[in-house]
Amino acid sequence: MKVDGVHHRSIVAVGDAAMRIVDQTRLPYEFNTLELADCAATIHAIRSMQVRGAPLIGVTGAYGLGLALRTDASDAALAAAYTDLLAARPTAVNLRWSLDRMRALLVPLPPAQRAAAAWQEAGAIAEEDVAINRAIGAHGAELIAAIHRRVARPVNVLTHCNTGWLAAVDYGTALSAIYTAHDARVPLHVWVDETRPRNQGLLTAWELAAHGIDYTLIADNTGGHLMQHGDVDLAIVGADRVSRTGDVCNKIGTYLKALAAHDNGVPFYAAVPSPTIDWTVADALAEIPIEERSGDEVRIVRGRDDAGRPAHVHLVSGEVPVANPAFDVTPARLVTGIVTERGVTAPAALAALFGQ
Ligand code: MRU
Repeated sequence: MKVDGVHHRSIVAVGDAAMRIVDQTRLPYEFNTLELADCAATIHAIRSMQVRGAPLIGVTGAYGLGLALRTDASDAALAAAYTDLLAARPTAVNLRWSLDRMRALLVPLPPAQRAAAAWQEAGAIAEEDVAINRAIGAHGAELIAAIHRRVARPVNVLTHCNTGWLAAVDYGTALSAIYTAHDARVPLHVWVDETRPRNQGLLTAWELAAHGIDYTLIADNTGGHLMQHGDVDLAIVGADRVSRTGDVCNKIGTYLKALAAHDNGVPFYAAVPSPTIDWTVADALAEIPIEERSGDEVRIVRGRDDAGRPAHVHLVSGEVPVANPAFDVTPARLVTGIVTERGVTAPAALAALFGQ
């Protein structure tokens, strides 16, 4: 997508020895890119959330494996890089999906061929991600357009976290639906959840502003009130891992939005690329590992001071006990539909849609 009129992707290969990423820890204040040239820098980027969002983590991990093999392409080095990259973040299954795909391709190859093959495969995964999310955008946009045909006014869409081009390679998942609808001239307005504690909603606001889409940033506690007053026509979120039964694990706070949507008869959709579906999981609540991040993400707020300088505000002291689970699970019964690259399905029919 475009930044100041220039097309960017969240990640691009630089030759065959590095990848260039957008440093998301500096947004929305500064747009900066940086190059990752080895596996350790890749792991740091994923852990520190310089790169984030389930699809992007998967693609970054694939390139990171390629970088590791440039140094040492032995079986032992491949196994170690796989293990270390996989441990970088535990919840989004796209990382495991891409690393498994890479390993299955690379293990049978002679070590001398592995680095080049890995780089090519990581590029293929990146291109597939774009194609998948374009298809999700088309299917999701049709949901928004259908509401517009019924209400004949701008459609109010509520979204949580950041599911845009920053979270994937390009376009995004739930935001791809919003971009596609907007580009097809469907009038719409987006309620953007702030998404404490990391405030990924600020990334969403930044993306929407860059694309000229009407939006309003709201505190996380606001959505239920808006739904009660008829101000939300549709909620659409992304996902970090979806069970075969259609339970949706996504950014913390998603579940509360789904509960409020259910109580108010607001349709609640998850936009889900197939690499985000974990066919081995039947009960997301019991089986998906939920990442627990540093309590400092809750204690300390990052922003800009009155003079526009980077600032950290300590809301409480470091001794205050904090719980910081990064994701939650929305049970399938609260999900109206799952938007995939193959179309929109009821959660219960997800496995059948993919022949699983
Ligand atoms: O912790 P994050 O910012 O990586 O979490 C991201 C989300 O939860 C997104 O909603 C999800 O990855 C879907 S993005 C296409």
